[in-house]
Amino acid sequence: MAALTESVRLETEADVALIIIDNPPVNALSWHVRQGLFDGMNQAVADGAQAIVLICDGRTFIAGADISEFGGGAPEAASLADAQAAMENAPVPVIAAIHGTALGGGLEVALCAHYRVALRSAKFGLPEVNLGLLPGAGGTQRLPRLVGVPKALEMMTSGRHIGTDEALAGGLADEVVDGDTDALRAAALTFATQAVEQGMPLVKVRDRDDKVAEVRGNDQLFADFRASIARKTRGFLAPEYNIRCIEAAVNQPFDEGMAVERKLFLELMTGPQSAAQRYYFFAERAANKIPDIAKDTPVLDIQSCGVLGAGTMGGGIAMNFANVGIPVTIVERDQEALDRGLAVVRKNYERSASRGSIPPEAVDERMGLIAGSTDKADFADCDIVIEAVFEDMELKQSIFRELDEICKPGAMLASNTSALDINEIAAVTSRPESVIGMHFFSPANVMKLLENVRGEKSSDTIVATAMAIGKRIGKVCVMVGVCRGFVGNRMLFMRRIEADRMILEGATPAQVDRVLYDFGFPMGPFAMSDLAGLDIGWKEETSSSSTVREVLCEHGRRGQKNGRGYYTYDPETRAPTPDPEVEQLIRDFAVSQGVEQREVGDDEVLERCLYPMVNEGAKILEEGIAIRGSDIDVVWVNGYGWPVYRGGPMHWADSIGLADVVAKIREYGDRLDGEHWELSPLLARLADEGGQLQQYKN
Ligand code: 3HC
Ligand code: NAI
Repeated sequence: MAALTESVRLETEADVALIIIDNPPVNALSWHVRQGLFDGMNQAVADGAQAIVLICDGRTFIAGADISEFGGGAPEAASLADAQAAMENAPVPVIAAIHGTALGGGLEVALCAHYRVALRSAKFGLPEVNLGLLPGAGGTQRLPRLVGVPKALEMMTSGRHIGTDEALAGGLADEVVDGDTDALRAAALTFATQAVEQGMPLVKVRDRDDKVAEVRGNDQLFADFRASIARKTRGFLAPEYNIRCIEAAVNQPFDEGMAVERKLFLELMTGPQSAAQRYYFFAERAANKIPDIAKDTPVLDIQSCGVLGAGTMGGGIAMNFANVGIPVTIVERDQEALDRGLAVVRKNYERSASRGSIPPEAVDERMGLIAGSTDKADFADCDIVIEAVFEDMELKQSIFRELDEICKPGAMLASNTSALDINEIAAVTSRPESVIGMHFFSPANVMKLLENVRGEKSSDTIVATAMAIGKRIGKVCVMVGVCRGFVGNRMLFMRRIEADRMILEGATPAQVDRVLYDFGFPMGPFAMSDLAGLDIGWKEETSSSSTVREVLCEHGRRGQKNGRGYYTYDPETRAPTPDPEVEQLIRDFAVSQGVEQREVGDDEVLERCLYPMVNEGAKILEEGIAIRGSDIDVVWVNGYGWPVYRGGPMHWADSIGLADVVAKIREYGDRLDGEHWELSPLLARLADEGGQLQQYKN
């Protein structure tokens, strides 16, 4: 065995050389890996190896370029292209042995091997698009040549990882092996020996033309594909750039296609979208870490879950647990509400099955894991109980008193409250250390964010368990502290205040929504209100025309559910149209409030919606409610549709420049009242010092 660099070594077995990469945690292509790969190829050939196997130690094959090197700063080393050329042009068969995930640059390396042998559980993908990039090491030219254009388009614009069945069918894998990494090594060595004995050709993917030739001249294929992803990829540059590279693979010789890839890759790499998306990649992972909770803190072994309330949230929460095989007991106040809630859950599963996102038999399997009841005593054996009843402190406190009586010692008691004080809820129990907030987002079975809310007395184990169980059910978790609305809703309230104000001053709901939609949000605040229902929390008896929303409710406008809200909805297509009646009601209301109307510019709409959020985010950091600035961005990207290519409100403010943001907040604060315009001292200080919100840590 010979060490080539700190992370790559060369071994020999009979006449076969093994280049082994060991660069934990994910064998990313750091400079010493590239150098080791390059040196290993040259040395193996010089030593007279008959074949070469590339294999990785640890949990995975190469999972991509080392993203942390993208900003620069890595020592000079062999380029990835040199290492790839050494593989592709080797005079003996080169076999990539793949386990775990061959992603991005990792797959691009494997595409330069002459053959690929994979463990059955391996996954393959080019996820660069999720970093605002395209595969920059020949993947855009080689993948379509190997798997064909339709599959390459789909894989590269979605970043989806494919399994070995698809990989075999598409030619990405030549052989699939069952067992562990020892079995993989043995199979790759056998494959290598056979390749030598049988004189198998040294296949260079770059030289293949059949699959790309099939669609040459078929512009319609690209037009149709672009149309099919237009809605999902609105605002993002990278998907379109990936498509252009595949067009080049089809229409130009390999080397010219590579030049297109290089040019577009560099453009993306130096642009703001990829900077935001790469920042976000690390932000999401940083959010898992809670500074005062040791990594080895014991967590509860959650084998059963209770959910109280089978309404909008309870049903979705229950699905999350059933989806990963954890049995759920869901309790409602009466049979009718329970039946209604369970029927919605079944319908959701049936819809997923009809769309093909789960197999048909999963509907009954998952429903079989959800037991309904009207008796909270059935929570007695649950490891975790999540309360999702109406948003009412007295009700929640009375329920937690009961849960305290019923649940077994040590069970985790969580509330899905969206704004209430977890400490006040915990205080009514004899075990506040077991109580925590778990704020899911609607629809809870779909939305990725889980805002965990740590109470003053939540134990380390409960805090660690909330993060661990969140991960297990597929959520992106952020731990926050107690305050009204926590991180997400507290900032949302600020946006809402200004949006509501501006429609009195003369902006229309459609204008405000359009500005935010164009910024990249899936919808604006007024469309969102219509979707949620204008009458949430509204009571006819007490309604006093004190807000536009009350006025609209009084005029029978309930939102999308009755086709009339801030907009009027087409009964067939549900398409919204601005309604002159609403605009008149708003004008009348403005007059009654003594607000003079004027034209409000789009820039003002955007600034007044977003700057108070940034200011509030800084206050949240100052108060220690969020652990780090980047956590706030994770909340907004995953919970509220902040466009990830703008990184989140903290990253966005930094990218504008905090001094400019502060100047604007001061300017608006001089003419508008409200605490949300009072400048956060932290924000002022960071602006003075040239600091950044996204890097701020408590
Ligand atoms: N570069 C640097 N660090 C990376 C990395 C990468 N490509 N991929 C993962 N890491 C780090 C993570 O930051 C994390 O670090 P931490 O423990 O200090 O927080 C650690 O590795 C483990 O990552 P995960 O927590 O994500 O581990 P999982 O087991 O959940 O997932 C994975 C593993 C599927 C490999 C996932 O990490 C992943 O998707 N990684 C990114 C893959 C990717 O995007 N590759 C393409 C890179 S761009 C590229 O290759 C350009 C090329 O075309 C030129
Ligand atoms: P919902 O009104 O749809 O459902 C509440 C359910 O609780 C109803 O089915 C009701 O019958 C049941 N319930 C009430 N009292 C009960 C009791 N004593 N015992 C058993 N069941 C009882 O409300 P939704 O929207 O699901 O909200 C639930 C909680 O989740 C609230 O705290 C809310 O703030 C929070 N939340 C709501 C979000 C949303 O978008 N709807 C998002 C995030 C959190």
